[in-house]
Amino acid sequence: MSLPDLIRVKRDGGRLERAAIRELVAAVTDNRLTDVQLGALLMAIYLQGLDATEQASLTLAMRDSGTVLRWNDLDGPVLDKHSTGGVGDLVSLVLAPLLAACGAYVPMISGRGLGHTGGTLDKLESIPGFNVSLELPRFQAIVREHGFALVGQGDDLAPADRRIYAARDVSETVSCQPLVVASILSKKLAEGLDGLVMDVKTGRGAVFADPARARALAQALCDVAGGAGLDCHAVLTDMDQPLAAAAGNALEVREAIAFLAGERHGTRLETVVLALASEALIIGELAPDTGQAKAKLASALDSGAAAERFAAVVAAQGGPGGLVETPDEYLPTAPVQCEIRAQQAGHVQQVDALAIGRLVRGLGGGRFREDDRIDPAVGVNALVSAGDRVERGQVLAVIHARDDDAAQRAATDLSGMIQLGEAMPDLPSTIQGVIRNTENRSDTDR
Ligand code: URA
Repeated sequence: MSLPDLIRVKRDGGRLERAAIRELVAAVTDNRLTDVQLGALLMAIYLQGLDATEQASLTLAMRDSGTVLRWNDLDGPVLDKHSTGGVGDLVSLVLAPLLAACGAYVPMISGRGLGHTGGTLDKLESIPGFNVSLELPRFQAIVREHGFALVGQGDDLAPADRRIYAARDVSETVSCQPLVVASILSKKLAEGLDGLVMDVKTGRGAVFADPARARALAQALCDVAGGAGLDCHAVLTDMDQPLAAAAGNALEVREAIAFLAGERHGTRLETVVLALASEALIIGELAPDTGQAKAKLASALDSGAAAERFAAVVAAQGGPGGLVETPDEYLPTAPVQCEIRAQQAGHVQQVDALAIGRLVRGLGGGRFREDDRIDPAVGVNALVSAGDRVERGQVLAVIHARDDDAAQRAATDLSGMIQLGEAMPDLPSTIQGVIRNTENRSDTDR
C-alpha cells in the first residue's frame, strides 16, 4: 500500500498492521512522508485511536528508528524519569543529578515544550552554551563520568519522535494517549534503561486533565514498557496548579538551582521530586523501601552532592562553570518585570496551571509554529500556591516580559488566573497514586 493508502486506513477507523506501522515510521524518519501527510496521519490517529497492539508496534518502530543504547560495564543501574508534561515542571533538572548522586546512571533524552507545557530542552537551552545535541559517544562519556547527561532526540536516538513531536506540538494532536505512549517510551527504550519512573500528570494543566484518562495513560505506559521488558513505575501527580513557583525557561532553571541549594523545602515540587526519585531508587535496587530511599535522597541534597553533579554536567555540556554559584550572571533576564498584587486578603483558591502555561507560551516562552524561536527569559515567577494565605497588597506573581505591552496584557490575564477567597480551599493531593509493572512479578520474571 502507498503512504496515502495507509493514512486512509487509519482515517476510516481501520487497524494498521505491524509492518504498515513500521513503514510509516520509516517514512517519517527518512522524510518520505511529507509534513502535510504527517499532520494528516497524526490527526487520523488522534480521532480514531490505536489499539494496544498498534500502540506497542508504534512504540517499538519509533524506538528502532535509531540506535538503541547498551550500557555494559557500569557499577550502577541505568534509570530515568519522564513526565507527561506540565507547567512549572522542572523535575528533570533536579532529579537527574539527585539520582546520579545516589549511584544511578541517567542518560536522559528530553523533549521541547509541547502545547502549553514546558520542555526540559528549552529550559536547558536558556543556559548560555549548553549543548543538548551531543554526539552519542560524548553523551555516553558524560553519563559514565558524571552519572547523567541531558540531550534531545538527535538523529541517533528515536529520530522519528523528533519529527512527530514537533508536528504534534503545532497540530493540536498532543493529548492523544497512543501518541504520548509511543513518544515517551520510544525515547526511553532507546536509552537502554534498567528502569523507568513516569510522572503522569493529572488536573487542569495536564495533557490529560481527567483523572481517569491520566490513570489509563499511566497503565498503558506501564503495560507497553513491561511488554518491551522495561520495569516502569508510574506516579500520578497533581497538575491543577503549576508545580514550581516559576514557569518559563530561564526562570525554571533558577528555581532548579534554588532547589538543589536546599531552598525549596516543604514545597509541592519537593514532594513530587522525592516521590519519583524514591520509586527510581527502588526499581534500581539502590534502596529497599521508600523510607530508606528518602533518607538517601535527603543526604544527596543536604551534602551538596546533587548540586555538584548538576554543576559538573552543565560545564561538561558547554555551559558556564559558575552557573550554580551565580545564576543571575549567566541566565537571561527579561527587560520588563511587573508584579501582580492581591486586591484583597484571603486564601489562594486556585492558580490555573493551564491558563498560566498558555500565558507563558503567549509571552514567547513556547511555540505556535515549529520554527518559532523561544524567548528564554520570559515567564512568571514568585507564584503563590493554592491554599496560601495572602494579605492585601502582597505579591501574587511577577511577570517577566519582552516589552511593556506584553507585560500589561499578561498582567490583566494573570490576575484572573489566581483566585482569592475567604475559606481555605479543598486541595487535591499532590501524589494521587502509583502504578507499578513490577508488582505481582517474581524476581525470576525480571
Ligand atoms: N513527553 C514526551 O516525550 N512526549 C509526549 O507526548 C508527552 C510528554
